[in-house]
Amino acid sequence: MPPPKAAVHPDLESVLVSSARIKRRIKEMGREIKRVYGRDEFTVISIINGAIMFTADLLREIENPVRLDCIRISSYRNETKSLGTPQLIHSLTLDIAGRDVLLIDDILDTGKTLLLVTELIRKLKPASLRTCVLLDKKGRREVNFEADFVGFKIPDKFVVGYGLDFAERYRNLPAIGVLKPARQNPPARA
Ligand code: IMP
Ligand code: MG
Repeated sequence: MPPPKAAVHPDLESVLVSSARIKRRIKEMGREIKRVYGRDEFTVISIINGAIMFTADLLREIENPVRLDCIRISSYRNETKSLGTPQLIHSLTLDIAGRDVLLIDDILDTGKTLLLVTELIRKLKPASLRTCVLLDKKGRREVNFEADFVGFKIPDKFVVGYGLDFAERYRNLPAIGVLKPARQNPPARA
């Protein structure tokens, strides 16, 4: 008999997307993206920190010439819920005028972050702009926004792992899971 599978993390109530499913879906997403861009070069903008793991793995599935830049958006969350308006705190270094841009985030929730960032990017006059998210919590949308590439549609649960955090923790988990309610209290020292 094989040994029992080690739990991903004791603070998780359940695993929503296993690391094997993430890997499989990212390979498919690489193919979906290549179908749209052909062999052309494009510029990837990754919203950090959350999209770090997803961006790193997705880019390894794509052979096109790519340029990579990152953008940082201030956290406007009270740990598990969105509170206000997201703010840009670190902007781009690459020139994206006339370039094909693929914007990557970890999760599309209320939609406010991607709406803000796409508005900022459009002002820089890219040739085209598409968006790609690993997770889509469609039921939580507060603004009218849909991504061009979506990894998984998920229910309205607060999830961590594979780049997603709770108070900056759990980003390094290889799978995506739902945090136990007892763990959804801010730690004494963030
Ligand atoms: P939106 O602006 O509400 O669409 O939220 C997008 C940002 O909120 C994402 O980039 C995440 O950083 C964060 N976020 C939304 N839902 C979750 C979640 O379930 N777990 C962790 N972070 C989340
Ligand atoms: Mg984020």
